[in-house]
Amino acid sequence: MLSRTSNLPIGVFDSGVGGLTVLRALRELLPDENFLYLGDTARVPYGAKSPESVIKYALQAGGALVQEGIKMLVVACNTASAVSLDALASEYSPLPVVGVVKPGAEAACATTINGKIAVIATEGTVKGGVYQRTICSMHPDAEIIAHPCPLFVGLAEEGWVDGELVEAIVARYLKPLFAAFGDVKPDTLVLGCTHFPVLREAIANVAGSSIKLVDSAETTAKTVKNILNEAQICNVGDVKGKISFLATDSAQRFAAVGGPFLGEKIDTSDVRVIDL
Ligand code: DGL
Repeated sequence: MLSRTSNLPIGVFDSGVGGLTVLRALRELLPDENFLYLGDTARVPYGAKSPESVIKYALQAGGALVQEGIKMLVVACNTASAVSLDALASEYSPLPVVGVVKPGAEAACATTINGKIAVIATEGTVKGGVYQRTICSMHPDAEIIAHPCPLFVGLAEEGWVDGELVEAIVARYLKPLFAAFGDVKPDTLVLGCTHFPVLREAIANVAGSSIKLVDSAETTAKTVKNILNEAQICNVGDVKGKISFLATDSAQRFAAVGGPFLGEKIDTSDVRVIDL
């Protein structure tokens, strides 16, 4: 049964460990809240899957978290946010459901000065055009060009986040994207996949200092905070700041790979493996 009891954790899910970059921001802004994170590591990546499959996976992940007992669901995956928010909201109503695309678009609009915004994301997110539509609805004059960077997910999951080889791959993706803008280059680059912030330094080195990098993490955390306050469901229980993890594949691998994304060590004993 659904419950919005305020001392329940906030459920967060992603295809893998990428959403831990969002959890990190949530924890920083909401240190009194408890979180239950689910990484669908057995089926990562979602980025090249069809919208139908991603919606099915998202409903299964959401269902598993709802069954555990959560007061809000954060879809910390752009690919899933792009296609499954409506399905999740209607399936688990009245549970509040928050995605990461709108917060990412808001961050981009707040950052750009020249209105030229480059977006990098998974193939699914780019093909669906969700960032283009969402940014345009907020900033109708913006010029938005989005390119998929599917290899970044593999690099991030592998922990290959810096060095010459990584920067060469980043350059291979970014150079044609920036060139597509013609003479006036973008001043804002949206990291439209929650796996990408761990590659931030390599991406910034290639993009150069005139292009600002934005992601959804902080703006998503602010959105969640507002909803908690408006719905009056802030945690008032004795247990505060606890994170538990669920994964659909090896707990050891989740803990080892996930640490750098969360910015703190994850103990294998805190990760429970489930089937969806
Ligand atoms: N982290 C996910 C996103 O934000 C997707 C990565 C993947 O599974 O392809 O889009």
